[in-house]
Amino acid sequence: MSTKITLSVLKADVGGFIGHGSVHPDMLEEAKKTLKQEGKDILIDFNVTNVGDDINLVLTHQEGINSRDIHSLAWATFLNCTEVAKKMKMYGAGQDLLSDAFSGNIKGMGPGIAEMEFEERTSEPIIIFMADKTEPGAWNLPLYKIFADPFNTIGLVIDPKMHAGFVFEVLDLIEDILVTFSCPEELYDLLVFLGASNRYVVKSIFASSGEIAAVSSTQKLNQMAGRYVGKDDPVLIVRCQSGLPAVGEVLEPFANPHLVAGWMRGSHYGPIIPVSQKNAVPTRFDGPPRVIAMGFQLANGKLIGPQDLFADVAFDRARQTALEVADYMRKMGPFEPHRLPLDEMEYTTMPQVMERLKGRFK
Ligand code: F6R
Ligand code: MG
Ligand code: MG
Repeated sequence: MSTKITLSVLKADVGGFIGHGSVHPDMLEEAKKTLKQEGKDILIDFNVTNVGDDINLVLTHQEGINSRDIHSLAWATFLNCTEVAKKMKMYGAGQDLLSDAFSGNIKGMGPGIAEMEFEERTSEPIIIFMADKTEPGAWNLPLYKIFADPFNTIGLVIDPKMHAGFVFEVLDLIEDILVTFSCPEELYDLLVFLGASNRYVVKSIFASSGEIAAVSSTQKLNQMAGRYVGKDDPVLIVRCQSGLPAVGEVLEPFANPHLVAGWMRGSHYGPIIPVSQKNAVPTRFDGPPRVIAMGFQLANGKLIGPQDLFADVAFDRARQTALEVADYMRKMGPFEPHRLPLDEMEYTTMPQVMERLKGRFK
């Protein structure tokens, strides 16, 4: 067994309360109970929370990434939560569990996952971002700002340990191939891809020393299932401080809410609102999209925290801006660019309408 710590964040929507808005407390209790009982021999620690209708399991252990035991524990946890959801007839109970049988690795089976393994530093501050009503591309813009934009991250300029920059690993979601860019040297090449956030997403970021700095979940659920099963509602792990961006540099991009794809029926652009965990209940037009930031200090794998970082009043103005943007965009109703382009919508009536009207096109 390695001396390294593995941090695994797994998430799934296995039933909404009410509609697609939140998770019933009994389901969260069930998750804690399962992890406590069935994880006692392999977990160092765990934390369970939710953002909107997604349950997020934060697990620490020494099994490494892609561990069969850890993935099957998470799968069992989501299954038990589904049972609880079914009894209460929660909405869409079990919706993200795409298979009846566990195959050994949770990837491709519905739940989202972000994992990293590292040697715990003298002090190990980490932030786990969790979002609802959006997709993995939502992290592109903030990750660019955190790790490559000196107007966001002054450490890139004045911290000798950060001055060499960071390496971005970008995944093409359609071809399923990875490409890496060293920044600042390849900034402009990087931006060609990151700007197309529905197709190219940041998978991982490394310091120039090779140390892992950030990992996102990149599942595109709609493609995985070959049918509509909801937006991917991604998670992102970022390590902070001591040669990595400071906590405040990591949170700073969210002070200016950017537009992301998701919201109602996974088919609209809207602002992503940074909120406290208790305010992560998307209601208006099933949104707008939410992001929470849970801060932990790791201590020999123990999760000290969380600190609910977006609860800070310093993000009140960002929330206000996001609400104004939401008002503005909602006035466009079913028109692009509030509604996503045809090929990006989660579902459409276009084929049926076309079929019915086909004789009328001259
Ligand atoms: C978006 C989302 C919701 C649903 C909407 C319709 O990611 O989950 O906006 O798409 O509430 O849901 P159904 O089709 O389940 O009635
Ligand atoms: Mg849902
Ligand atoms: Mg969700």
